Amino acid sequence: MKNVEATDQLHQRAAEMPSLSTLFAFDPERGGTYRVSGAGIQLDYSKQRVDTSVLTLLARLAEQAGVEIERARLLTGEVVNRTENRAAWHTALRAPAEQHSEPQRCVEEQLQRMTQLVDKIQSGVWRGFSGKRITDVVNLGVGGSDLGPLMVTHALREYAEPAARALKVHFASTIDGSQLFDLLDHLNPETTLFIISSKSFTTIDTLSNADTVRSWLAGHCDDHALVVRCHFVGVSASAQRMADWGLPPENQLHFWEWVGGRFSLWSTIGLPIALALGMSIFRQLLAGAHTMDEHFRTAPLLQNLPVMLALLGIWNVNFLDIRAHAILPYDGRLKYFPPYLEQLEMESNGKSVSQAGEPLDYSTCPVLWGEIGANAQHAFYQLLHQGTQAVASDFILSARRYEALDHYAHSEQLQAQHQLNIANCLAQSRVLAFGSEAVEPSDNPWRQYPGNQPSSTLLLERLDPQSLGALIALYEHKVFTQAVIWDINPFDQWGVELGKQVALQLQPLLAESADISGTTLDSSTRALALSIRAHR
Ligand code: F6P
Repeated sequence: MKNVEATDQLHQRAAEMPSLSTLFAFDPERGGTYRVSGAGIQLDYSKQRVDTSVLTLLARLAEQAGVEIERARLLTGEVVNRTENRAAWHTALRAPAEQHSEPQRCVEEQLQRMTQLVDKIQSGVWRGFSGKRITDVVNLGVGGSDLGPLMVTHALREYAEPAARALKVHFASTIDGSQLFDLLDHLNPETTLFIISSKSFTTIDTLSNADTVRSWLAGHCDDHALVVRCHFVGVSASAQRMADWGLPPENQLHFWEWVGGRFSLWSTIGLPIALALGMSIFRQLLAGAHTMDEHFRTAPLLQNLPVMLALLGIWNVNFLDIRAHAILPYDGRLKYFPPYLEQLEMESNGKSVSQAGEPLDYSTCPVLWGEIGANAQHAFYQLLHQGTQAVASDFILSARRYEALDHYAHSEQLQAQHQLNIANCLAQSRVLAFGSEAVEPSDNPWRQYPGNQPSSTLLLERLDPQSLGALIALYEHKVFTQAVIWDINPFDQWGVELGKQVALQLQPLLAESADISGTTLDSSTRALALSIRAHR
């Protein structure tokens, strides 16, 4: 990393850093001071192995890496994706309309088109080929064209507006067609609308699902143009490719090359969110994200939530050598948040070459994974507590839940369940930090909990469209800040291209008639291909 002096000092501080138990013994009130808030979210990082001198050095590292300069470039739409020579201006998608400058007017125009489309579908003006109203919508997309809409739709289902509740929104992403197979098994072709969501409109996973759907529909109606007009909407940055596929302009929504795929849920890629929950909920989500953008833009580095998350991550990975990071939301509605972050963090920062193309001699993105915390307690927490692997964790928790259900017969029980959930979340971060010695000493070797596993707790007042928008934007800016410090480009993903290319080369070799012996295939792949062919 750029600041050699600060990194040397940080390595030294890491070598002498006491355990969490000792840090709390030195400063029993650190729980009240090692915290920061912004955009309605509180971050408690007192259970991270840092002290004020470490924080000062980390802030210096960020300054010297140019975080503030790069942040300004990001937020004003300058080129920050240097290998692809474009902006990464997802923040423009959630800026209030009155702040839109000329290049951003198209954002509001597409939002208006999206609103009209949502109205038509929800009100029943849009009909299927036989004149029936649409009851089901299936989003066909993968990666950023799937994970964001899926995660948000699931998280905010309780907030769905009445007009949206009649529609059932489904997601199919897998290239093997298995999700589609399950859906087509029970969906009615006359009343189902398919969204083909693909920034590039070249992704084989999505296009093969779309082609399968088109054949399925053709089996029920032989007017192919009518089928496409009534049952497909495309969302892409390539109007030309959507047109080549057969989508008329009225069935297209657009976004732009300057929106990265994994940052695209704020664009028209959010159509499934708007259909499932309502356009005003989608707008609230955008507003929540904008609040975090403003916090990120204005707060001083050590008071800045995304910067703090980034610095703590860098401290853990590069100085404490903790290369695994668990995301643990204590809320069933955030079931798809960990997989969403897996793409956001690892596709963005899973890099080993600098912006200038030089190999790096330090670690970047840790392995990041997660699960609903309370369920993970019964799955992989054993490893967190007693395994040999150091893991840093993010706990995500809402203080309030179910209060809108006062009229509901089971509301008291549900609120009691939420208290139980909170108790579990707090118990886990406590045991991870302090282990058995500090909590309940035991002589039994199998009941030893070493503790000293660092964690942060992100506390929301409640999970709602605004706070979810802010939470997602928080992690987006964290990823960006880390990338600046690691001197990598978080906005490209060259690492996923070779696999796609090789799959295309292999596909014809799986045919019965293909001569596989004369190819340059490695012996493992050749033997596997032959075994697969023999099983047919
Ligand atoms: O293959 C990786 C990737 O390019 C992701 O970055 C992207 O979110 C996903 O594929 C889907 O791409 P598209 O929206 O162009 O279909």
